[in-house]
Amino acid sequence: MEPTASPHPAPGPGAPHRRPDPHEAHHEPGHAHGSGHDHHHDDAGCAQVLDLDAQVFGGLLDQAVAVAVEHAPTPMRTVVDLGAGTGTGSRALARAFPDAGVVAVDADPAMLDRLRAGLAGTGLGDRVRTVEADLDAGWPDVGTADVVWASASLHHVADPARVLRDAHDALAPGGLLVVVEMTATSPVLPDDAAHADLAAHLASAMTHAGWNRYPDWTSYLVDAGLEVVDRREPTAVVPPGPDASRWAHATAARQREHLADHLAPADLAALDAVLAATALTHHDDTTDPADTTGPTPTHTIGARGGRIVWAARRPR
Ligand SMILES: C[S@@+](CC[C@H](N)C(=O)[O-])C[C@H]1O[C@@H](n2cnc3c(N)ncnc32)[C@H](O)[C@@H]1O
Repeated sequence: MEPTASPHPAPGPGAPHRRPDPHEAHHEPGHAHGSGHDHHHDDAGCAQVLDLDAQVFGGLLDQAVAVAVEHAPTPMRTVVDLGAGTGTGSRALARAFPDAGVVAVDADPAMLDRLRAGLAGTGLGDRVRTVEADLDAGWPDVGTADVVWASASLHHVADPARVLRDAHDALAPGGLLVVVEMTATSPVLPDDAAHADLAAHLASAMTHAGWNRYPDWTSYLVDAGLEVVDRREPTAVVPPGPDASRWAHATAARQREHLADHLAPADLAALDAVLAATALTHHDDTTDPADTTGPTPTHTIGARGGRIVWAARRPR
């Protein structure tokens, strides 16, 4: 773990924040197709990157869930996961709150299919239910919530202030809203010191390109009538290994393809080096992982990532 805050597009707590422009495109790192309001864009690629990210940065998810556990009210009956995607958060929340039901909300039926498939064999299936709903069309019928969780999803909605007001109203008094966003998505080369600015340059390029762009949500939470009780920025550097290689290959390929206009030659060269170093080690859908006839891969590329986590309570 790195103790320091990572570079990311959100200003600090005291800095002036920027209302998101509902007309700008919002993308996650690696999600480069269509606007944030096109819920059916590049489903397979998007889901693949989300799952890879969850695999590599499971420790960051654990830290975000720990924030929810620390501030959650009792009794815990219902968690609502807004923009649940492939269900990484839904499963972690179901495990963290063993007495609660989890309602996983998403506008994209393909994501929800994948989420339900991911419940198989986990023993969580009877406590996680899915609701297909577009948050832009209004608050879904999910009943009263003790925790509302929105991970990498709030910046996708057209009117986050309205969604947060609705979340406030859906929470039981004393209930908790947790907002999570991604920060500092960058591969780590073996000579990391020579690329000291790569993570910052990638973050800046992603912001300029409209990927994963979000404001500091603090004042939005306050405006929605919530009391901010926590804000943390965990970061992680995951050492080289098979998962880091697959993640780095997928991430660098998308960054190389879509951010070229926003990056300096040295940064593009670094991404090329990542692609070359991981060319033998990543597995895509056409690679048979059981095929051991090729050269034995050596893993040299790590993964740098981070999260920013807000927790806010509905006053009793
Ligand atoms: C980047 S993914 C995050 C998934 C998951 N929360 C995670 O952290 O891995 C964003 C998700 O929000 C969903 N989403 C975007 N806009 C939405 C909307 N207006 N209503 C409901 N879901 C939406 C997308 O379909 C996608 O699954």
